[in-house]
Formats: sequence, C-alpha cells, structure tokens
Amino acid sequence: MRKLSFSIVFFFAVIICFTACYNDNEEDLYDEYLANCTVESASFKDEVSLIFISKCDRCHSEANAPINGDNINLDGYEKIVAFENKYPGLLVRSLKHESGVAAMPKGEKKLDACNVRKVEFWVLDGMKNN
Ligand code: HEC
Repeated sequence: MRKLSFSIVFFFAVIICFTACYNDNEEDLYDEYLANCTVESASFKDEVSLIFISKCDRCHSEANAPINGDNINLDGYEKIVAFENKYPGLLVRSLKHESGVAAMPKGEKKLDACNVRKVEFWVLDGMKNN
C-alpha cells in the first residue's frame, strides 16, 4: 500500500513537472510577451528615444557618429527624423536585419521584437514628437 501511494505521488509529480516545463518553453513565453507588447502608444520621449540611447548612441550619437557610426548621426528627435526622411524605411529594415542593408545594432543580436515594433509603429504613425 505504501509503495503504491508512493508510485502514485511520483507519477503525478512527473506529470506536473512535465506540464510545467512544457508551458515554460521559450516559444510560449515569447508569444505571451509579444501579445503583451502594446505599440499603439509608442511615445518618442518615453520609449523610442530610450531604445536609441541605449542601443545606438554608442556609435550614432553626435560625438560617436564620426568615430564608429559611419557619420550617421541619430542623436535625438531631429536627427532621427531627418535620417528617416532622407532614407525612408532604412532604420526599420536595419533593425529587422533585412537583406541588402547593414544589420543594426552592428555586431549585436537583433533588438527584441517588441522594441522593433515600437520603432516601426512610431515611424508609420508619422514620427510624432510625443
Ligand atoms: C557598434 C557600432 C554601432 C551600433 C551600436 C549601431 N550602429 Fe548603426 N551603423 C554603424 C556603422 C559602422 C554603420 C555603417 C554600415 C556598416 O559599417 O555596417 C551603421 C549604419 C547604420 C544604418 C544604415 C544602414 C545601411 O544599410 O546603410 C542605420 C539605419 C543604422 N546604422 C541604424 C542604427 C540603429 C537604429 C542602431 C541602434 C539600434 C544602430 N545603428 C547601432 C555602427 C553602429
């Protein structure tokens, strides 16, 4: 009897562990993350500019652009808008690592999909200074 109940507990423990691991798999977490990624309100000040500051300024700030950013100055609202107007779509294509453009951030993995979406949405939404 004792052995039997131990087996039953063990059996359920295995099932629970298996289900927990299955639900935790990366793809599910990623889908959930994207579902929670709201971009209807991508704000330049609170979201988009922070992405540029943390991921691009190392090479594309005013001071760094001539040194390691190929003279592409993405330092602040005006510069980013001017670049997008001059080369429409290039920013987002580089963030998406599309073929035919230089993948950005250079030498690093793609930004996470939610941040790419935010930049894309902000551009499509008319690059508001919000
Ligand atoms: C480590 C330095 C570095 C970082 C970080 C970096 N860039 Fe660049 N970027 C460059 C260089 C250098 C070039 C010139 C093309 C090349 O050498 O690949 C470039 C080119 C570009 C281009 C033009 C692409 C083309 O095909 O002409 C865009 C757009 C761009 N960067 C945007 C960004 C954005 C947005 C970020 C941040 C998410 C970023 N970069 C981060 C160094 C960097």
